Amino acid sequence: MKDLTPDRGTLDPIEIALVDEIRARQLERLKWSLRHAYDNVPMYRQRFDEAGVHPDDLQSLSDLGKFPFTYKSDLRDNYPFGLFAVPREQILRIHASSGTTGKPTVVGYTKRDIDTWADLVARSMRASGTRPGDLVHVAYGYGLFTGGLGAHYGAERLGCTVIPISGGMTERQVNLIQDFRPDTIMVTPSYMLNILEQFHKQGLDPSDCSLSVGIFGAEPWTNAMRSEVEQAFDMHAVDIYGLSEIMGPGVANECVETKDGLHIWEDHFYPEIIDPETGEVLPDGEMGELVFTTLTKEGLPMVRYRTRDLTRLLPGTARSMRRMEKITGRSDDMIILRGVNVFPSQIEEQVMATGGLAPHYQIELFTAGRMDAMRVHVEAMPDAADELSRTASARMLSKRIKDVAGVSTEISVGDPGDVERSQGKARRVVDNRNKE
Ligand code: DLL
Repeated sequence: MKDLTPDRGTLDPIEIALVDEIRARQLERLKWSLRHAYDNVPMYRQRFDEAGVHPDDLQSLSDLGKFPFTYKSDLRDNYPFGLFAVPREQILRIHASSGTTGKPTVVGYTKRDIDTWADLVARSMRASGTRPGDLVHVAYGYGLFTGGLGAHYGAERLGCTVIPISGGMTERQVNLIQDFRPDTIMVTPSYMLNILEQFHKQGLDPSDCSLSVGIFGAEPWTNAMRSEVEQAFDMHAVDIYGLSEIMGPGVANECVETKDGLHIWEDHFYPEIIDPETGEVLPDGEMGELVFTTLTKEGLPMVRYRTRDLTRLLPGTARSMRRMEKITGRSDDMIILRGVNVFPSQIEEQVMATGGLAPHYQIELFTAGRMDAMRVHVEAMPDAADELSRTASARMLSKRIKDVAGVSTEISVGDPGDVERSQGKARRVVDNRNKE
Protein backbone atom coordinates (compact mmCIF):
# COMPACT_ATOMS: atom_id res chain seq x y z
CA MET A 1 0.00 0.00 0.00
CA LYS A 2 1.13 3.51 -0.83
CA ASP A 3 2.40 5.83 1.92
CA LEU A 4 -0.28 8.53 1.91
CA THR A 5 0.80 10.47 5.02
CA PRO A 6 -0.20 14.08 4.34
CA ASP A 7 2.46 16.77 4.29
CA ARG A 8 2.22 18.62 7.64
CA GLY A 9 2.21 21.93 5.80
CA THR A 10 -1.17 21.05 4.28
CA LEU A 11 -2.91 20.53 7.66
CA ASP A 12 -5.03 23.15 9.40
CA PRO A 13 -2.64 24.67 12.00
CA ILE A 14 -5.08 23.84 14.84
CA GLU A 15 -4.78 20.10 14.01
CA ILE A 16 -1.22 20.15 15.27
CA ALA A 17 -1.45 23.05 17.74
CA LEU A 18 -0.41 22.70 21.38
CA VAL A 19 -3.11 21.10 23.51
CA ASP A 20 -3.32 24.28 25.66
CA GLU A 21 -4.13 26.30 22.58
CA ILE A 22 -6.89 23.86 21.64
CA ARG A 23 -8.34 23.99 25.17
CA ALA A 24 -8.31 27.80 25.15
CA ARG A 25 -10.16 27.88 21.86
CA GLN A 26 -12.67 25.32 23.14
CA LEU A 27 -13.40 27.35 26.28
CA GLU A 28 -13.97 30.52 24.32
CA ARG A 29 -16.25 28.74 21.84
CA LEU A 30 -18.10 26.78 24.50
CA LYS A 31 -19.05 30.01 26.27
CA TRP A 32 -20.46 31.32 23.01
CA SER A 33 -22.31 28.08 22.25
CA LEU A 34 -24.02 27.80 25.67
CA ARG A 35 -25.05 31.44 25.49
CA HIS A 36 -26.36 30.98 21.94
CA ALA A 37 -28.42 27.93 22.96
CA TYR A 38 -29.77 29.64 26.10
CA ASP A 39 -30.71 32.87 24.34
CA ASN A 40 -32.34 31.30 21.29
CA VAL A 41 -33.79 27.88 22.12
CA PRO A 42 -36.66 27.82 24.66
CA MET A 43 -35.92 24.20 25.62
CA TYR A 44 -32.34 25.00 26.65
CA ARG A 45 -33.41 28.11 28.59
CA GLN A 46 -35.99 26.09 30.49
CA ARG A 47 -33.61 23.17 31.14
CA PHE A 48 -30.74 25.38 32.31
CA ASP A 49 -33.10 27.39 34.57
CA GLU A 50 -34.54 24.19 36.05
CA ALA A 51 -31.04 22.88 36.71
CA GLY A 52 -30.06 26.23 38.26
CA VAL A 53 -27.24 26.85 35.79
CA HIS A 54 -26.54 29.79 33.55
CA PRO A 55 -24.09 30.12 30.63
CA ASP A 56 -22.07 32.55 32.80
CA ASP A 57 -21.38 29.69 35.23
CA LEU A 58 -18.99 28.14 32.75
CA GLN A 59 -15.55 29.33 33.80
CA SER A 60 -13.57 26.24 32.84
CA LEU A 61 -14.21 23.31 30.50
CA SER A 62 -14.96 21.00 33.41
CA ASP A 63 -17.88 23.25 34.43
CA LEU A 64 -19.73 21.79 31.46
CA GLY A 65 -20.55 18.81 33.72
CA LYS A 66 -23.04 21.04 35.59
CA PHE A 67 -25.22 21.46 32.52
CA PRO A 68 -28.11 19.13 31.66
CA PHE A 69 -27.94 16.46 28.94
CA THR A 70 -29.82 16.52 25.64
CA TYR A 71 -31.39 13.34 24.27
CA LYS A 72 -32.61 12.12 20.90
CA SER A 73 -36.15 12.27 22.34
CA ASP A 74 -35.72 16.06 22.74
CA LEU A 75 -35.41 16.36 18.96
CA ARG A 76 -38.53 14.25 18.52
CA ASP A 77 -40.45 16.24 21.15
CA ASN A 78 -39.54 19.48 19.37
CA TYR A 79 -40.26 18.09 15.89
CA PRO A 80 -39.62 19.41 13.34
CA PHE A 81 -37.83 22.75 13.90
CA GLY A 82 -38.29 23.50 17.59
CA LEU A 83 -34.61 23.30 18.54
CA PHE A 84 -33.36 25.58 15.76
CA ALA A 85 -31.58 28.59 17.22
CA VAL A 86 -32.01 30.85 14.19
CA PRO A 87 -35.12 31.85 12.19
CA ARG A 88 -36.05 29.11 9.72
CA GLU A 89 -35.18 31.42 6.80
CA GLN A 90 -31.53 31.30 7.85
CA ILE A 91 -31.45 27.51 7.61
CA LEU A 92 -30.02 26.57 4.23
CA ARG A 93 -30.35 22.80 4.45
CA ILE A 94 -32.39 20.21 6.30
CA HIS A 95 -31.40 16.58 6.87
CA ALA A 96 -33.27 13.93 8.81
CA SER A 97 -32.67 10.42 10.04
CA SER A 98 -35.50 8.03 9.38
CA GLY A 99 -35.50 6.41 12.80
CA THR A 100 -37.10 3.04 13.33
CA THR A 101 -39.82 4.33 15.62
CA GLY A 102 -41.87 7.50 15.58
CA LYS A 103 -40.96 10.77 13.94
CA PRO A 104 -37.63 11.30 12.20
CA THR A 105 -35.04 13.53 13.86
CA VAL A 106 -34.66 16.71 11.87
CA VAL A 107 -31.49 18.80 11.75
CA GLY A 108 -30.77 22.15 10.08
CA TYR A 109 -27.67 24.02 8.96
CA THR A 110 -26.97 27.73 8.41
CA LYS A 111 -24.63 28.89 5.67
CA ARG A 112 -21.75 28.93 8.14
CA ASP A 113 -22.65 25.44 9.42
CA ILE A 114 -22.61 24.05 5.88
CA ASP A 115 -19.27 25.71 5.34
CA THR A 116 -17.76 24.28 8.55
CA TRP A 117 -19.09 20.85 7.65
CA ALA A 118 -17.44 20.94 4.21
CA ASP A 119 -14.17 22.08 5.84
CA LEU A 120 -14.25 19.24 8.37
CA VAL A 121 -15.07 16.55 5.83
CA ALA A 122 -12.22 17.91 3.68
CA ARG A 123 -9.95 17.71 6.76
CA SER A 124 -11.16 14.15 7.40
CA MET A 125 -10.49 13.12 3.82
CA ARG A 126 -7.01 14.62 3.89
CA ALA A 127 -6.33 12.69 7.11
CA SER A 128 -7.51 9.56 5.28
CA GLY A 129 -4.92 10.06 2.54
CA THR A 130 -7.09 11.73 -0.14
CA ARG A 131 -5.47 14.64 -1.98
CA PRO A 132 -6.75 17.61 -4.00
CA GLY A 133 -7.19 16.47 -7.58
CA ASP A 134 -8.11 12.91 -6.61
CA LEU A 135 -11.21 11.24 -8.03
CA VAL A 136 -13.73 10.36 -5.31
CA HIS A 137 -16.52 7.80 -5.66
CA VAL A 138 -19.28 8.66 -3.14
CA ALA A 139 -21.50 5.63 -2.54
CA TYR A 140 -23.08 6.89 0.70
CA GLY A 141 -26.79 7.49 0.15
CA TYR A 142 -27.76 10.97 -1.05
CA GLY A 143 -30.91 12.59 0.30
CA LEU A 144 -32.08 13.21 3.84
CA PHE A 145 -29.29 10.96 5.16
CA THR A 146 -26.20 13.11 5.84
CA GLY A 147 -23.70 10.64 4.33
CA GLY A 148 -23.91 11.41 0.61
CA LEU A 149 -24.16 15.20 0.61
CA GLY A 150 -21.79 15.52 3.57
CA ALA A 151 -19.10 13.53 1.77
CA HIS A 152 -19.86 15.30 -1.49
CA TYR A 153 -19.32 18.87 -0.29
CA GLY A 154 -16.23 17.86 1.66
CA ALA A 155 -14.69 16.25 -1.42
CA GLU A 156 -15.40 19.34 -3.48
CA ARG A 157 -13.97 21.53 -0.73
CA LEU A 158 -10.75 19.52 -0.80
CA GLY A 159 -10.58 20.07 -4.56
CA CYS A 160 -11.46 16.56 -5.71
CA THR A 161 -13.50 15.36 -8.67
CA VAL A 162 -16.67 13.81 -7.23
CA ILE A 163 -18.68 10.89 -8.63
CA PRO A 164 -22.03 11.23 -6.78
CA ILE A 165 -23.24 7.68 -7.44
CA SER A 166 -25.06 7.21 -4.08
CA GLY A 167 -25.89 3.68 -2.82
CA GLY A 168 -27.35 0.75 -4.73
CA MET A 169 -27.02 -0.75 -8.22
CA THR A 170 -23.90 -2.59 -7.21
CA GLU A 171 -23.09 -3.88 -10.67
CA ARG A 172 -22.97 -0.34 -11.98
CA GLN A 173 -20.81 0.74 -9.03
CA VAL A 174 -18.21 -1.81 -10.09
CA ASN A 175 -18.46 -0.86 -13.77
CA LEU A 176 -17.86 2.79 -12.97
CA ILE A 177 -14.97 2.01 -10.64
CA GLN A 178 -13.40 0.05 -13.52
CA ASP A 179 -14.07 2.80 -16.08
CA PHE A 180 -13.48 6.03 -14.10
CA ARG A 181 -10.61 4.72 -11.95
CA PRO A 182 -11.36 6.61 -8.69
CA ASP A 183 -8.64 7.00 -6.02
CA THR A 184 -10.99 7.14 -3.03
CA ILE A 185 -14.29 5.49 -2.19
CA MET A 186 -16.63 6.72 0.55
CA VAL A 187 -19.21 4.14 1.57
CA THR A 188 -20.50 2.14 4.52
CA PRO A 189 -18.18 -0.79 5.29
CA SER A 190 -20.99 -3.32 4.87
CA TYR A 191 -21.82 -1.98 1.42
CA MET A 192 -18.11 -2.13 0.53
CA LEU A 193 -18.33 -5.88 1.14
CA ASN A 194 -21.15 -6.07 -1.41
CA ILE A 195 -19.02 -4.19 -3.89
CA LEU A 196 -16.20 -6.64 -3.19
CA GLU A 197 -18.53 -9.54 -3.84
CA GLN A 198 -19.60 -7.96 -7.13
CA PHE A 199 -15.96 -7.70 -8.22
CA HIS A 200 -15.65 -11.45 -7.72
CA LYS A 201 -18.94 -12.11 -9.53
CA GLN A 202 -17.62 -10.22 -12.54
CA GLY A 203 -14.41 -12.26 -12.45
CA LEU A 204 -12.32 -9.18 -11.56
CA ASP A 205 -9.41 -9.05 -9.15
CA PRO A 206 -10.24 -6.18 -6.74
CA SER A 207 -6.55 -5.66 -5.92
CA ASP A 208 -6.03 -4.56 -9.54
CA CYS A 209 -8.54 -1.72 -9.23
CA SER A 210 -7.56 1.93 -8.94
CA LEU A 211 -8.73 2.54 -5.35
CA SER A 212 -6.08 3.48 -2.80
CA VAL A 213 -8.28 4.81 0.04
CA GLY A 214 -11.65 3.77 1.46
CA ILE A 215 -13.32 6.10 3.99
CA PHE A 216 -15.79 3.92 5.83
CA GLY A 217 -18.33 4.86 8.50
CA ALA A 218 -21.97 5.37 9.47
CA GLU A 219 -21.99 1.98 11.26
CA PRO A 220 -19.66 0.03 13.52
CA TRP A 221 -16.97 -2.09 11.86
CA THR A 222 -14.06 -3.98 13.31
CA ASN A 223 -10.33 -4.06 12.67
CA ALA A 224 -10.90 -7.59 11.38
CA MET A 225 -13.10 -6.14 8.66
CA ARG A 226 -10.46 -3.49 7.97
CA SER A 227 -7.90 -6.23 7.25
CA GLU A 228 -10.34 -8.08 5.03
CA VAL A 229 -11.02 -5.02 2.86
CA GLU A 230 -7.44 -3.74 2.86
CA GLN A 231 -6.11 -7.08 1.70
CA ALA A 232 -8.76 -7.64 -0.94
CA PHE A 233 -8.43 -4.20 -2.54
CA ASP A 234 -4.80 -3.47 -1.63
CA MET A 235 -6.02 -0.14 -0.26
CA HIS A 236 -6.10 1.81 3.01
CA ALA A 237 -9.35 1.47 4.97
CA VAL A 238 -9.92 4.43 7.29
CA ASP A 239 -12.72 5.09 9.79
CA ILE A 240 -14.95 8.19 9.63
CA TYR A 241 -17.47 8.96 12.37
CA GLY A 242 -20.33 11.36 12.71
CA LEU A 243 -23.97 11.74 13.53
CA SER A 244 -26.67 13.98 12.11
CA GLU A 245 -27.51 15.65 15.42
CA ILE A 246 -23.94 16.92 15.80
CA MET A 247 -23.14 17.51 12.10
CA GLY A 248 -23.05 14.38 9.93
CA PRO A 249 -19.89 12.59 8.73
CA GLY A 250 -16.61 14.24 9.71
CA VAL A 251 -16.98 14.74 13.47
CA ALA A 252 -13.95 12.46 13.89
CA ASN A 253 -11.65 10.59 11.52
CA GLU A 254 -8.69 8.27 11.61
CA CYS A 255 -5.32 9.26 10.20
CA VAL A 256 -4.05 6.99 7.45
CA GLU A 257 -0.51 6.97 8.86
CA THR A 258 -1.56 5.57 12.26
CA LYS A 259 -5.07 4.03 12.02
CA ASP A 260 -5.16 4.05 15.80
CA GLY A 261 -8.59 5.49 16.51
CA LEU A 262 -10.41 8.57 15.32
CA HIS A 263 -9.20 12.09 16.03
CA ILE A 264 -12.16 14.18 17.15
CA TRP A 265 -12.15 17.59 15.50
CA GLU A 266 -12.13 19.22 18.90
CA ASP A 267 -12.05 22.78 17.64
CA HIS A 268 -15.74 22.29 16.75
CA PHE A 269 -17.01 19.53 19.06
CA TYR A 270 -16.33 19.02 22.76
CA PRO A 271 -16.39 15.34 23.74
CA GLU A 272 -17.07 13.82 27.16
CA ILE A 273 -17.32 10.20 28.22
CA ILE A 274 -19.90 9.46 30.86
CA ASP A 275 -21.16 6.51 32.80
CA PRO A 276 -24.39 5.76 30.91
CA GLU A 277 -26.17 4.73 34.12
CA THR A 278 -25.24 7.58 36.46
CA GLY A 279 -24.33 10.35 34.00
CA GLU A 280 -21.03 10.90 35.84
CA VAL A 281 -18.17 12.25 33.70
CA LEU A 282 -15.39 9.66 33.42
CA PRO A 283 -11.68 10.40 33.00
CA ASP A 284 -10.01 9.95 29.60
CA GLY A 285 -9.13 6.32 28.99
CA GLU A 286 -12.30 4.94 30.58
CA MET A 287 -14.99 3.29 28.53
CA GLY A 288 -18.45 4.82 28.51
CA GLU A 289 -21.02 6.75 26.48
CA LEU A 290 -19.82 9.49 24.19
CA VAL A 291 -21.44 12.89 24.73
CA PHE A 292 -20.91 15.89 22.45
CA THR A 293 -21.38 19.62 22.79
CA THR A 294 -21.15 21.64 19.59
CA LEU A 295 -18.83 24.65 19.79
CA THR A 296 -19.64 26.57 16.61
CA LYS A 297 -23.01 25.35 15.32
CA GLU A 298 -25.49 28.15 14.68
CA GLY A 299 -28.57 26.35 13.34
CA LEU A 300 -28.86 23.53 15.85
CA PRO A 301 -26.55 23.91 18.85
CA MET A 302 -26.35 20.72 20.91
CA VAL A 303 -25.44 20.78 24.58
CA ARG A 304 -24.19 17.50 26.08
CA TYR A 305 -25.92 15.34 23.49
CA ARG A 306 -26.11 11.67 24.50
CA THR A 307 -24.93 9.75 21.43
CA ARG A 308 -25.47 6.23 22.91
CA ASP A 309 -22.18 5.30 21.23
CA LEU A 310 -19.72 3.47 23.45
CA THR A 311 -16.01 4.23 23.31
CA ARG A 312 -13.20 5.89 25.27
CA LEU A 313 -11.06 8.98 24.80
CA LEU A 314 -7.34 8.66 24.19
CA PRO A 315 -4.60 11.29 23.83
CA GLY A 316 -3.65 12.66 20.41
CA THR A 317 -1.00 10.93 18.27
CA ALA A 318 -0.78 11.92 14.59
CA ARG A 319 -2.78 15.07 15.52
CA SER A 320 -2.95 16.99 18.81
CA MET A 321 -6.66 16.44 19.19
CA ARG A 322 -7.90 13.54 21.27
CA ARG A 323 -8.86 10.26 19.70
CA MET A 324 -11.91 8.12 20.29
CA GLU A 325 -11.36 4.40 20.08
CA LYS A 326 -13.18 2.61 17.26
CA ILE A 327 -16.79 2.36 18.44
CA THR A 328 -17.59 -0.90 20.19
CA GLY A 329 -21.29 -0.45 19.53
CA ARG A 330 -24.32 1.53 20.58
CA SER A 331 -25.89 0.93 23.94
CA ASP A 332 -29.15 0.30 22.02
CA ASP A 333 -27.47 -2.50 20.01
CA MET A 334 -26.10 -4.31 23.01
CA ILE A 335 -27.59 -7.78 23.21
CA ILE A 336 -28.24 -9.06 26.70
CA LEU A 337 -28.43 -12.79 26.42
CA ARG A 338 -29.16 -14.68 29.61
CA GLY A 339 -27.45 -11.92 31.55
CA VAL A 340 -24.36 -11.68 29.33
CA ASN A 341 -23.72 -8.51 27.32
CA VAL A 342 -22.76 -9.12 23.70
CA PHE A 343 -22.05 -6.60 20.94
CA PRO A 344 -22.48 -7.38 17.24
CA SER A 345 -18.86 -6.26 16.77
CA GLN A 346 -17.67 -9.19 18.92
CA ILE A 347 -19.55 -11.58 16.66
CA GLU A 348 -18.16 -9.83 13.58
CA GLU A 349 -14.57 -10.36 14.72
CA GLN A 350 -15.18 -14.08 15.10
CA VAL A 351 -16.96 -14.44 11.76
CA MET A 352 -14.00 -12.75 10.06
CA ALA A 353 -11.55 -15.04 11.84
CA THR A 354 -13.32 -18.28 10.92
CA GLY A 355 -12.15 -20.05 7.79
CA GLY A 356 -14.63 -21.03 5.07
CA LEU A 357 -17.07 -18.20 5.86
CA ALA A 358 -17.90 -15.06 3.85
CA PRO A 359 -17.74 -11.77 5.79
CA HIS A 360 -21.55 -11.25 5.76
CA TYR A 361 -23.52 -11.96 8.94
CA GLN A 362 -26.77 -11.25 10.73
CA ILE A 363 -27.72 -12.03 14.31
CA GLU A 364 -31.19 -13.34 15.08
CA LEU A 365 -32.60 -13.32 18.59
CA PHE A 366 -35.42 -15.74 19.30
CA THR A 367 -37.17 -17.47 22.16
CA ALA A 368 -36.34 -21.11 22.84
CA GLY A 369 -38.77 -22.43 25.44
CA ARG A 370 -38.71 -19.64 28.01
CA MET A 371 -35.13 -18.59 27.30
CA ASP A 372 -33.67 -16.02 24.93
CA ALA A 373 -31.42 -17.53 22.31
CA MET A 374 -29.17 -16.27 19.55
CA ARG A 375 -28.59 -17.61 16.07
CA VAL A 376 -25.84 -16.22 13.86
CA HIS A 377 -26.58 -16.41 10.15
CA VAL A 378 -23.45 -16.63 8.02
CA GLU A 379 -22.56 -17.90 4.57
CA ALA A 380 -20.21 -20.53 3.25
CA MET A 381 -17.54 -19.30 0.85
CA PRO A 382 -18.19 -20.76 -2.61
CA ASP A 383 -15.12 -23.02 -2.26
CA ALA A 384 -16.20 -24.29 1.18
CA ALA A 385 -19.91 -24.89 0.59
CA ASP A 386 -19.95 -28.70 1.01
CA GLU A 387 -21.60 -30.18 4.10
CA LEU A 388 -18.36 -31.18 5.80
CA SER A 389 -16.80 -27.72 5.50
CA ARG A 390 -20.01 -26.02 6.67
CA THR A 391 -20.24 -28.18 9.75
CA ALA A 392 -16.59 -27.52 10.56
CA SER A 393 -17.00 -23.74 10.11
CA ALA A 394 -20.16 -23.69 12.24
CA ARG A 395 -18.49 -25.61 15.02
CA MET A 396 -15.44 -23.38 14.92
CA LEU A 397 -17.49 -20.15 14.97
CA SER A 398 -19.68 -21.34 17.79
CA LYS A 399 -16.61 -22.22 19.85
CA ARG A 400 -14.93 -18.88 19.14
CA ILE A 401 -18.03 -16.93 20.19
CA LYS A 402 -18.35 -19.00 23.34
CA ASP A 403 -14.69 -18.37 24.19
CA VAL A 404 -14.77 -14.63 23.55
CA ALA A 405 -18.29 -13.56 24.48
CA GLY A 406 -19.21 -16.34 26.87
CA VAL A 407 -22.51 -17.23 25.21
CA SER A 408 -23.73 -20.31 23.38
CA THR A 409 -25.10 -19.61 19.92
CA GLU A 410 -26.66 -21.53 17.10
CA ILE A 411 -24.86 -21.08 13.81
CA SER A 412 -26.64 -21.27 10.48
CA VAL A 413 -24.26 -21.54 7.54
CA GLY A 414 -26.26 -20.60 4.44
CA ASP A 415 -25.38 -20.63 0.75
CA PRO A 416 -23.40 -17.77 -0.76
CA GLY A 417 -25.81 -14.81 -1.01
CA ASP A 418 -28.23 -16.00 1.72
CA VAL A 419 -27.54 -13.26 4.28
CA GLU A 420 -29.45 -10.00 3.74
CA ARG A 421 -27.29 -7.43 1.93
CA SER A 422 -27.35 -3.73 2.82
CA GLN A 423 -27.02 -0.77 0.50
CA GLY A 424 -26.23 1.55 3.42
CA LYS A 425 -26.20 0.70 7.09
CA ALA A 426 -26.44 -3.07 7.62
CA ARG A 427 -29.15 -4.49 9.87
CA ARG A 428 -27.01 -6.61 12.17
CA VAL A 429 -29.62 -7.73 14.69
CA VAL A 430 -33.11 -9.06 14.02
CA ASP A 431 -35.15 -9.50 17.17
CA ASN A 432 -37.72 -12.28 16.81
CA ARG A 433 -38.09 -12.88 20.53
CA ASN A 434 -41.58 -13.82 21.67
CA LYS A 435 -42.86 -13.64 18.14
CA GLU A 436 -44.05 -17.26 17.93
O1 DLL B 1 -24.32 7.90 9.97
C1 DLL B 1 -23.31 10.06 9.62
C2 DLL B 1 -22.22 9.43 8.83
C3 DLL B 1 -22.37 9.26 7.47
C4 DLL B 1 -21.04 9.06 9.44
C5 DLL B 1 -21.35 8.71 6.71
C6 DLL B 1 -19.99 8.51 8.71
C7 DLL B 1 -20.17 8.34 7.35
P1 DLL B 1 -26.63 9.09 11.44
O2 DLL B 1 -27.43 8.43 10.39
O3 DLL B 1 -27.26 10.17 12.25
O4 DLL B 1 -25.34 9.75 10.84
O5 DLL B 1 -26.11 7.95 12.40
C8 DLL B 1 -25.23 8.23 13.45
O6 DLL B 1 -24.20 6.05 13.27
O7 DLL B 1 -24.39 7.67 16.44
C9 DLL B 1 -23.19 5.81 15.37
O8 DLL B 1 -24.01 4.97 16.14
C10 DLL B 1 -23.17 5.34 13.93
N1 DLL B 1 -21.87 5.63 13.32
C11 DLL B 1 -21.54 6.64 12.49
N2 DLL B 1 -20.24 6.54 12.12
C12 DLL B 1 -19.74 5.44 12.75
C13 DLL B 1 -18.46 4.82 12.79
C14 DLL B 1 -24.36 9.11 10.14
N3 DLL B 1 -17.43 5.26 12.09
C15 DLL B 1 -24.84 6.96 14.17
N4 DLL B 1 -18.34 3.73 13.58
C16 DLL B 1 -23.81 7.20 15.25
C17 DLL B 1 -19.37 3.25 14.29
C18 DLL B 1 -20.78 4.88 13.53
N5 DLL B 1 -20.58 3.78 14.29
